Amino acid sequence: MSINMSLLPTSSTIDANGVLSIGGVQIDHLAQQFGTPLFVYDEENLRSQCKQAVASFGPDNVIYASKAFLCKAMARLAHEEGLLLDVATGGELFVALEAGVPANRCVLHGNNKSDDELKTAMTAGVRHIVVDSFDEIDRIEKLHKAGAPAPRVQIRITPGVHVETHAYISTGQDDSKFGFNLANGDAHKAIEKCKASSFLNLVGIHCHIGSNVLAVENFEAAAQVMVSLFASLQLPELTLGGGLGVAYTEEDVAPSMQEWAQVFHRATQSLPTGTRVYVEPGRSIVARAGVTVYTVGTVKPIEGIRTYISVDGGMSDNSRPMMYGSEYEAYDPMRMNDHRSDEARIVGKHCESGDILILNAHVAPNVKVGDLLLTPVTGAYGYAMASNYNKVLRPAVVFVRHGEARLVVRRETPEDLTRLDV
Ligand SMILES: Cc1ncc(COP(=O)(O)O)c(C=O)c1O
Repeated sequence: MSINMSLLPTSSTIDANGVLSIGGVQIDHLAQQFGTPLFVYDEENLRSQCKQAVASFGPDNVIYASKAFLCKAMARLAHEEGLLLDVATGGELFVALEAGVPANRCVLHGNNKSDDELKTAMTAGVRHIVVDSFDEIDRIEKLHKAGAPAPRVQIRITPGVHVETHAYISTGQDDSKFGFNLANGDAHKAIEKCKASSFLNLVGIHCHIGSNVLAVENFEAAAQVMVSLFASLQLPELTLGGGLGVAYTEEDVAPSMQEWAQVFHRATQSLPTGTRVYVEPGRSIVARAGVTVYTVGTVKPIEGIRTYISVDGGMSDNSRPMMYGSEYEAYDPMRMNDHRSDEARIVGKHCESGDILILNAHVAPNVKVGDLLLTPVTGAYGYAMASNYNKVLRPAVVFVRHGEARLVVRRETPEDLTRLDV
C-alpha cells in the first residue's frame, strides 16, 4: 500500500529519504522536541478550511462546532477566520470566552442545559440558544423572570431523516434524545409556545441530522423538510447543522465543502432574500489538518495469528475506533516512500483488549521498537474526547506553520493527575 497524500494535512511534504514534514517541520523533530503521543495540526490547513467554509456559505453563516476540537488557540483561530462558535456546554462556552471570543459570536447547544449554563449564556449575551426541550423553555422563562436578559433562540427539530452513519452519531431521526419531533407535533407545539412568549425571542429553527455523513442526499432530504417547515413560519434564520463527513482511509470518498454547500444552496433558493442560513461544521474543518504521532513500544508477533504493535497512547487519545469501529491508516513518518507490505494490529497501552487503534493496518516492513507511527485524520474528536484512563497523561498539541512549531496545549504531568484530589 502506498501513501495517499489527500489523507495528510495539506502542507505535508515528503523528502527524498521518505521523511514527512508538516508545516515545514519534520515529524521526528517534533517528536524529539515535544515527546509522543503528540497531536500535530497544520495551521494553514485549519485556516484554509475555515476560509473555504466562509467562501462557500458566506460571512457570518458558518458556526464552527467546537466539540470537534477546542482549545484557546483553536477558538481564536476560528474567530479570526470569521467563524462563529457552537458551544455545546458551559465548559465549551468558558473556553471560547477565555480565548477572547465575544459572547455574541457564540451559539449555545445541548439537550440538557443546566440553569447555570443557561444563565451564563443569557447574561453573557450569546448570539442565540438552540432550545432542545420543553423543560428548557420553562427554565429560560424562570431565569428571565429572575432577571436574566431574554435570549434569541432557535428551536432544534428532528426532521425524521435517517442518515448513513454510525447509530451513535445519527441525530435527525424521530427516536432521538435531541430536539423536538416534527412527526408527532412536538416541533409545532414548541414553535407556538416560543412565538407566544415574551421571555424569549424566537428567531429561527435548527436541525442537525448526524455526524460523518458521506451521502449529500441525506443533507438534501433534511434541508427540504426544514425549508418547507420554515416557509410557513416567517422567521429570519434557519440552521442546517453540521455533519459533513471526511475520508479517514484510502478507500473512503467524502464530498467536498463546495459540494455540501451546493446541496444547501439548491434546497434553500426559494427562501426570501435576507434569510440567514447557518451551517455548523466541526469535523470537516479540523479532521484532516490533525495527525497523531506515536512511538512504538512493543512489537509482538504471535506465530500463525498476527503481529501486535503497541504504541504509547491508544483509546485515551483516540476513542473513535472503540466507540464507532472507526478505521484509520498507519504511516511511518520516517519511511513514507516504503511500500506498506506488512500487516499488523495497532494497539494502545491501556488495560483493555478493545484498546485497538487499527484492526488490520498496513505498515512499512519490519516495524521495530522506537519507530514513530503516525495516524492521519485525527484532528476531529480525538483530543476533544481524550481521557486519563489508566492515568495516562493527555498528549500535547502543537500547531505547525511556515517551518515553526507552536505549543498550544502542553502535555499533562503526573501532578495534573492528582490536582483534583482533596
Ligand atoms: C448540533 C450540532 N451541530 C454540529 C455538529 C458538528 O458535526 P460535525 O463535526 O460532524 O460537522 C454536531 C456534532 O455532533 C452537533 O451536535
